[in-house]
Amino acid sequence: MRIDIISAVPDLLASPLSHSIMQRAQDKGLLEVVIHNLREYGIGKHRQIDDYQYGGGAGLVMMIEPISILIEKLKAQRAYDEVIYMTPDGQLYEQSHANELSTYENIIILCGHYKGVDQRIRDIYITREISIGSYVLSGGELGAAVLVDSIGRLIPGVLNDGSSALFDSFQDDLLAPPIYTRPANYKGAVVPDILLSGDDGKIEQWRQEKSYQSTRERRPDLLDN
Ligand code: ADE
Repeated sequence: MRIDIISAVPDLLASPLSHSIMQRAQDKGLLEVVIHNLREYGIGKHRQIDDYQYGGGAGLVMMIEPISILIEKLKAQRAYDEVIYMTPDGQLYEQSHANELSTYENIIILCGHYKGVDQRIRDIYITREISIGSYVLSGGELGAAVLVDSIGRLIPGVLNDGSSALFDSFQDDLLAPPIYTRPANYKGAVVPDILLSGDDGKIEQWRQEKSYQSTRERRPDLLDN
Protein backbone atom coordinates (compact mmCIF):
# COMPACT_ATOMS: atom_id res chain seq x y z
CA MET A 1 0.00 0.00 0.00
CA ARG A 2 1.19 3.53 -0.80
CA ILE A 3 0.17 6.61 1.19
CA ASP A 4 1.08 10.10 -0.07
CA ILE A 5 0.80 12.82 2.56
CA ILE A 6 0.65 16.47 1.57
CA SER A 7 1.77 18.83 4.31
CA ALA A 8 2.97 22.38 4.89
CA VAL A 9 4.86 21.14 7.98
CA PRO A 10 6.33 17.78 6.90
CA ASP A 11 8.72 17.60 9.86
CA LEU A 12 5.72 16.98 12.10
CA LEU A 13 5.15 13.68 10.31
CA ALA A 14 8.62 12.22 9.96
CA SER A 15 9.12 10.97 13.50
CA PRO A 16 5.79 9.26 14.25
CA LEU A 17 6.03 7.30 11.01
CA SER A 18 9.66 6.23 11.26
CA HIS A 19 9.68 4.06 14.38
CA SER A 20 8.40 0.77 15.69
CA ILE A 21 5.65 -0.94 13.71
CA MET A 22 5.35 1.78 11.05
CA GLN A 23 9.06 1.61 10.26
CA ARG A 24 8.92 -2.19 10.15
CA ALA A 25 5.98 -2.05 7.75
CA GLN A 26 8.00 0.18 5.44
CA ASP A 27 11.18 -1.91 5.82
CA LYS A 28 9.21 -5.01 4.83
CA GLY A 29 7.95 -3.20 1.72
CA LEU A 30 4.34 -3.60 2.82
CA LEU A 31 3.74 0.12 3.30
CA GLU A 32 5.22 3.05 1.42
CA VAL A 33 4.68 6.48 2.97
CA VAL A 34 5.73 9.47 0.85
CA ILE A 35 5.61 12.85 2.56
CA HIS A 36 5.34 15.85 0.22
CA ASN A 37 6.41 19.31 1.33
CA LEU A 38 3.72 21.60 -0.05
CA ARG A 39 6.12 24.54 0.14
CA GLU A 40 8.01 23.06 -2.84
CA TYR A 41 4.89 23.71 -4.92
CA GLY A 42 4.40 27.25 -3.58
CA ILE A 43 3.84 30.23 -5.87
CA GLY A 44 6.54 32.76 -6.79
CA LYS A 45 9.90 33.46 -5.28
CA HIS A 46 8.55 33.20 -1.73
CA ARG A 47 6.89 29.86 -2.49
CA GLN A 48 3.61 31.17 -1.16
CA ILE A 49 1.04 28.55 -0.17
CA ASP A 50 -1.52 30.59 1.79
CA ASP A 51 -3.31 33.92 1.49
CA TYR A 52 -5.99 36.10 3.09
CA GLN A 53 -9.65 35.09 2.99
CA TYR A 54 -12.02 36.61 0.49
CA GLY A 55 -14.77 38.41 2.41
CA GLY A 56 -12.46 39.19 5.33
CA GLY A 57 -11.87 37.29 8.55
CA ALA A 58 -8.90 36.20 10.60
CA GLY A 59 -6.57 33.45 9.50
CA LEU A 60 -4.88 32.45 6.28
CA VAL A 61 -6.31 30.00 3.77
CA MET A 62 -4.25 27.40 1.89
CA MET A 63 -4.26 28.34 -1.79
CA ILE A 64 -5.73 26.14 -4.49
CA GLU A 65 -2.84 26.22 -6.94
CA PRO A 66 0.03 24.51 -5.06
CA ILE A 67 -2.25 21.72 -3.82
CA SER A 68 -3.85 21.30 -7.22
CA ILE A 69 -0.49 21.04 -9.01
CA LEU A 70 0.72 18.37 -6.57
CA ILE A 71 -2.47 16.30 -6.57
CA GLU A 72 -2.66 16.41 -10.39
CA LYS A 73 0.96 15.28 -10.58
CA LEU A 74 0.34 12.34 -8.25
CA LYS A 75 -2.88 11.33 -10.00
CA ALA A 76 -1.03 11.27 -13.34
CA GLN A 77 1.36 8.69 -11.87
CA ARG A 78 -1.12 6.18 -10.42
CA ALA A 79 -4.78 5.67 -9.62
CA TYR A 80 -5.84 6.67 -6.09
CA ASP A 81 -8.64 4.99 -4.16
CA GLU A 82 -9.25 8.03 -1.97
CA VAL A 83 -8.06 11.61 -1.58
CA ILE A 84 -8.61 12.33 2.11
CA TYR A 85 -8.68 15.74 3.77
CA MET A 86 -7.97 15.92 7.52
CA THR A 87 -10.33 18.44 9.05
CA PRO A 88 -12.23 18.86 12.34
CA ASP A 89 -15.53 19.04 10.42
CA GLY A 90 -14.93 15.68 8.71
CA GLN A 91 -16.45 12.28 9.50
CA LEU A 92 -15.44 11.05 12.95
CA TYR A 93 -12.75 8.40 12.48
CA GLU A 94 -13.40 4.88 13.77
CA GLN A 95 -11.84 1.42 13.57
CA SER A 96 -14.25 0.41 10.80
CA HIS A 97 -12.83 3.19 8.61
CA ALA A 98 -9.27 1.99 9.30
CA ASN A 99 -10.33 -1.53 8.28
CA GLU A 100 -11.76 -0.23 5.01
CA LEU A 101 -8.82 2.04 4.19
CA SER A 102 -6.31 -0.78 4.89
CA THR A 103 -7.70 -2.68 1.86
CA TYR A 104 -6.79 0.14 -0.55
CA GLU A 105 -3.76 0.33 -2.84
CA ASN A 106 -3.06 4.08 -2.95
CA ILE A 107 -4.38 6.99 -0.93
CA ILE A 108 -3.54 10.67 -0.65
CA ILE A 109 -3.91 12.46 2.70
CA LEU A 110 -4.04 16.26 2.60
CA CYS A 111 -3.24 18.00 5.88
CA GLY A 112 -4.95 21.31 6.47
CA HIS A 113 -3.12 24.15 8.18
CA TYR A 114 -3.95 27.72 9.21
CA LYS A 115 -7.69 28.19 8.64
CA GLY A 116 -7.81 25.24 6.24
CA VAL A 117 -7.87 24.88 2.46
CA ASP A 118 -9.73 26.84 -0.21
CA GLN A 119 -13.17 25.21 -0.51
CA ARG A 120 -12.57 24.50 -4.21
CA ILE A 121 -9.89 21.94 -3.28
CA ARG A 122 -12.50 20.09 -1.26
CA ASP A 123 -15.09 20.34 -4.03
CA ILE A 124 -12.80 19.23 -6.85
CA TYR A 125 -10.34 16.71 -5.39
CA ILE A 126 -11.37 15.43 -1.98
CA THR A 127 -13.28 12.14 -1.84
CA ARG A 128 -13.43 11.79 1.95
CA GLU A 129 -13.05 14.18 4.90
CA ILE A 130 -11.93 12.79 8.24
CA SER A 131 -11.78 14.17 11.79
CA ILE A 132 -9.88 12.26 14.48
CA GLY A 133 -11.95 13.78 17.28
CA SER A 134 -14.19 16.63 18.36
CA TYR A 135 -11.41 19.11 19.05
CA VAL A 136 -9.35 21.44 16.91
CA LEU A 137 -5.66 20.73 16.26
CA SER A 138 -3.19 23.20 14.79
CA GLY A 139 -3.07 21.18 11.61
CA GLY A 140 -3.97 17.85 10.05
CA GLU A 141 -0.52 16.26 10.48
CA LEU A 142 -1.14 14.56 13.83
CA GLY A 143 -4.43 13.25 12.46
CA ALA A 144 -2.67 11.96 9.34
CA ALA A 145 -0.16 10.12 11.56
CA VAL A 146 -3.06 8.56 13.46
CA LEU A 147 -4.59 7.41 10.18
CA VAL A 148 -1.37 5.92 8.80
CA ASP A 149 -0.63 4.09 12.05
CA SER A 150 -4.13 2.66 12.40
CA ILE A 151 -4.21 1.59 8.73
CA GLY A 152 -0.61 0.36 8.47
CA ARG A 153 -0.85 -2.10 11.35
CA LEU A 154 -3.83 -3.79 9.65
CA ILE A 155 -1.93 -4.57 6.44
CA PRO A 156 -1.37 -8.36 6.37
CA GLY A 157 2.18 -9.24 7.44
CA VAL A 158 2.89 -5.99 9.29
CA LEU A 159 2.27 -7.31 12.79
CA ASN A 160 4.39 -10.29 13.80
CA ASP A 161 1.35 -12.15 15.09
CA GLY A 162 -1.03 -11.67 12.17
CA SER A 163 -4.05 -12.44 14.30
CA SER A 164 -3.45 -9.88 16.99
CA ALA A 165 -4.89 -6.83 15.18
CA LEU A 166 -8.20 -8.69 15.03
CA PHE A 167 -8.38 -8.74 18.83
CA ASP A 168 -7.75 -5.04 19.30
CA SER A 169 -10.26 -2.93 21.15
CA PHE A 170 -13.12 -1.89 18.84
CA GLN A 171 -12.67 -4.71 16.33
CA ASP A 172 -15.93 -6.30 17.47
CA ASP A 173 -17.33 -3.10 18.92
CA LEU A 174 -15.87 -4.38 22.20
CA LEU A 175 -13.01 -3.04 24.30
CA ALA A 176 -10.03 -5.32 24.86
CA PRO A 177 -9.83 -7.50 28.02
CA PRO A 178 -7.10 -6.91 30.67
CA ILE A 179 -3.66 -8.32 29.85
CA TYR A 180 -0.78 -9.44 32.09
CA THR A 181 2.82 -10.58 31.81
CA ARG A 182 5.49 -11.84 34.23
CA PRO A 183 5.80 -11.88 37.19
CA ALA A 184 2.59 -13.68 38.21
CA ASN A 185 2.83 -12.07 41.65
CA TYR A 186 4.22 -8.57 42.08
CA LYS A 187 4.24 -7.55 45.76
CA GLY A 188 0.92 -9.31 46.25
CA ALA A 189 -0.73 -8.01 43.07
CA VAL A 190 -1.50 -11.30 41.34
CA VAL A 191 -2.48 -12.39 37.84
CA PRO A 192 -5.95 -14.00 37.68
CA ASP A 193 -5.62 -17.78 38.21
CA ILE A 194 -7.57 -18.58 35.06
CA LEU A 195 -4.80 -17.15 32.86
CA LEU A 196 -2.32 -19.55 34.47
CA SER A 197 -4.64 -22.56 34.15
CA GLY A 198 -3.62 -23.58 30.62
CA ASP A 199 -7.32 -24.15 29.79
CA ASP A 200 -7.68 -22.32 26.45
CA GLY A 201 -11.47 -22.61 26.37
CA LYS A 202 -11.92 -21.13 29.84
CA ILE A 203 -9.36 -18.39 29.14
CA GLU A 204 -11.20 -17.39 25.96
CA GLN A 205 -14.51 -17.30 27.85
CA TRP A 206 -12.97 -15.19 30.63
CA ARG A 207 -11.60 -12.72 28.07
CA GLN A 208 -14.98 -12.42 26.39
CA GLU A 209 -16.67 -11.75 29.73
CA LYS A 210 -14.09 -9.14 30.67
CA SER A 211 -14.48 -7.47 27.28
CA TYR A 212 -18.24 -7.19 27.70
CA GLN A 213 -17.88 -5.98 31.29
CA SER A 214 -15.37 -3.28 30.33
CA THR A 215 -17.45 -2.15 27.35
CA ARG A 216 -20.61 -1.99 29.47
CA GLU A 217 -18.82 0.15 32.07
CA ARG A 218 -16.77 2.44 29.83
CA ARG A 219 -18.39 2.60 26.40
CA PRO A 220 -22.00 1.38 26.60
CA ASP A 221 -22.66 3.25 23.33
CA LEU A 222 -20.62 0.56 21.51
CA LEU A 223 -23.04 -2.15 22.62
CA ASP A 224 -25.91 -0.28 20.93
CA ASN A 225 -24.30 -1.07 17.57
N1 ADE B 1 -7.22 19.32 11.82
C1 ADE B 1 -7.49 20.11 12.89
N2 ADE B 1 -8.23 19.48 13.79
C2 ADE B 1 -8.43 18.22 13.31
C3 ADE B 1 -9.12 17.08 13.78
N3 ADE B 1 -9.78 17.07 14.95
N4 ADE B 1 -9.12 15.97 13.02
C4 ADE B 1 -8.48 15.97 11.82
N5 ADE B 1 -7.82 17.00 11.32
C5 ADE B 1 -7.79 18.12 12.05
